Amino acid sequence: MSKSDKSAKTNPEAVSKEAADKAHLDIRGKKLDLDILKATMGPDVIDVQNFYKRSGYFTFDPGYTSTASCESKITFIDGDEGTLLYRGYPIDQLAEYGDYLETCYLLLYGELPTQAERRQFDDAITYHTMVQEQMSIFFRGFRRDAHPMAIMVAVVGALSAFYHDSLDINDPEQREIATRRMIAKVPTLAAMAYKYSLGQPFVYPRNDLDYASNFLHMCFSVPAEDYKVNPVLARAMDRIFILHADHEQNASTSTVRLAGSSGANPFACVAAGIACLWGPAHGGANEAALNMLEEIGTPERIPEFIARAKDRNDPFRLMGFGHRVYKNYDPRAKIMQRTAHEVLSEVGHKDDPLLQVAHELEQIALKDDYFLERKLYPNIDFYSGITLRALGFPTSMFTVLFALARTVGWIAHWREMIADPTRRIGRPRQLYTGPVRRSYVPMSKRGTGLGADYHRD
Ligand code: ACO
Repeated sequence: MSKSDKSAKTNPEAVSKEAADKAHLDIRGKKLDLDILKATMGPDVIDVQNFYKRSGYFTFDPGYTSTASCESKITFIDGDEGTLLYRGYPIDQLAEYGDYLETCYLLLYGELPTQAERRQFDDAITYHTMVQEQMSIFFRGFRRDAHPMAIMVAVVGALSAFYHDSLDINDPEQREIATRRMIAKVPTLAAMAYKYSLGQPFVYPRNDLDYASNFLHMCFSVPAEDYKVNPVLARAMDRIFILHADHEQNASTSTVRLAGSSGANPFACVAAGIACLWGPAHGGANEAALNMLEEIGTPERIPEFIARAKDRNDPFRLMGFGHRVYKNYDPRAKIMQRTAHEVLSEVGHKDDPLLQVAHELEQIALKDDYFLERKLYPNIDFYSGITLRALGFPTSMFTVLFALARTVGWIAHWREMIADPTRRIGRPRQLYTGPVRRSYVPMSKRGTGLGADYHRD
């Protein structure tokens, strides 16, 4: 008798408890009980790990909309409530009271640092911001007009060619060194990618500056002049990094986990994450939102664009509206909106017509039945494009900044996966709908004409 059978016999209440903790499935007459695993927050999950072995069926979920691909303790999102928590802490509190390096510590190690831990972590990051000098020669192989994301995919992957002493994923100390190296060096590489596109000399990092200020310094200073980092802009940059630091099992994070599941080194895995983030459906939306606001141009044209967004025959969508997970206000969008106002006031663009268009568009859409019924609210990208532009970045750098900030999230998830002793290589299955088995046909027996679906224009 199994343990659960025994408890059911002696305690009738246990029967209903046991029943409640199982999902019962009837597949063409075959009955199957599946365990329900408890989440601390959010939906519990039905455990289908041995489903194929027990039933002979696969589950089908392209796009993974109903699939928990892993167990994680890092980030929680409630899309209906509009909640985002890093290790249990609400994003708005971290953005208001914390800073990016503290957020990195939290995501990586699970707790906010003590003062001593914080000092030690800051030192470990600050004193590793320079990259191997040989890397600057590596940059010279790229065309000057290369997209900075193309450069990032290559140079972050290339870190594994420069830092051989932190590639052993089974050594916790090497994992730690690789972690700190990436958080320290990715901003330097991102700034180098930017400088390279401008044809300007690379600017070395400065250890007396905080993380965000140092990044602005590497991007915007030139050897010919003194550059003083504006603290309001540095704070805004830091907040943007916090808002983008992690977002649960999104496409790029899942890519990093899948790459890492084979035992690939962490630099290669993060390069895979950057490649995934580059796609317009993921990291490229803020650029699209900014382009849309520029196209709208003035508040008078908003009704025309709202009408287009609602028209089923027009593929146009309001960029920066809607989200796969958030069916309420994206909590990051509110902070981003405030940051946009702060940055625009600081740089003297508080009357920027784009901000006015954005504000009015948001107000109109928030009252419109089409958007209300479909739960389409502004997402983080709605205001981030305007803010990054005001900070001085060209649109081609927007996704690079996202990658910089998300590096810590990717690494936190990679570390969590590697440290799990039950880790297995990620290997999804498929619903095969191709031809059934057939025998090879020799060329002489395949006819002489073009196939039915062969077209030459
Ligand atoms: N403008 C107008 N209509 C929209 C929009 C929008 N931005 N987004 C969704 N809809 C409509 C769809 O036409 C559909 O209407 P229907 O039910 O009448 O057919 C309905 O809302 C549901 O749309 P889906 O595409 O099924 O929603 P999904 O959750 O799959 O898509 C997505 C989410 C891709 C973000 C979508 O809202 C979108 O394309 N938004 C604009 C792009 C954008 O801002 N992306 C950034 C996301 S945030 C990030 O990546 C950090």
